[in-house]
Amino acid sequence: MNPIHPALAPLAAAAIGKKWAEVDKALAAALRRPAWLRPEHRIGDPAGYMRHLLFVDAAGPFVITAITWLPGQRSLLHGHQVWCAFGVAEGELTEEQFVGADGVLRQTKSSVVRAGELADRDLHGKIIHRVANRGSRPLVSLHLYGVAPDRLTTGINRIYESVKEG
Ligand SMILES: [Fe+2]
Repeated sequence: MNPIHPALAPLAAAAIGKKWAEVDKALAAALRRPAWLRPEHRIGDPAGYMRHLLFVDAAGPFVITAITWLPGQRSLLHGHQVWCAFGVAEGELTEEQFVGADGVLRQTKSSVVRAGELADRDLHGKIIHRVANRGSRPLVSLHLYGVAPDRLTTGINRIYESVKEG
């Protein structure tokens, strides 16, 4: 996994240091000029959104991934077990946020995150959301997670898909 792409090095350094203001700045820079983005990151998987691991911190737990969303693809409704931050490198991402009470989830926000823009950070597992590509071309988002790479598939999300939406 090493060496890290130079365009992502300042971002990794800020995230490993948990310097969140610097993370925001470095993430915005990596999104506005995505020199790290390779052609295969635009291809995606028709079966579902596809994660591309870009960096693993050997001293972990911390990873950087790109995620490719083909038109119409979306995440399940989920919260997070670890801290995360993300933004969009190409395309448009729709994010819906929810709050839960008494086993019912209520939508509190719907927003579109465009190329170069950051979404809300979730440092304390407080955000419940669903993200989707409602556009007509592939979407590439860039994500930071405070998770070990071997827990990438099961260690990030808490799924709420079976909870009633009120
Ligand atoms: Fe999420």
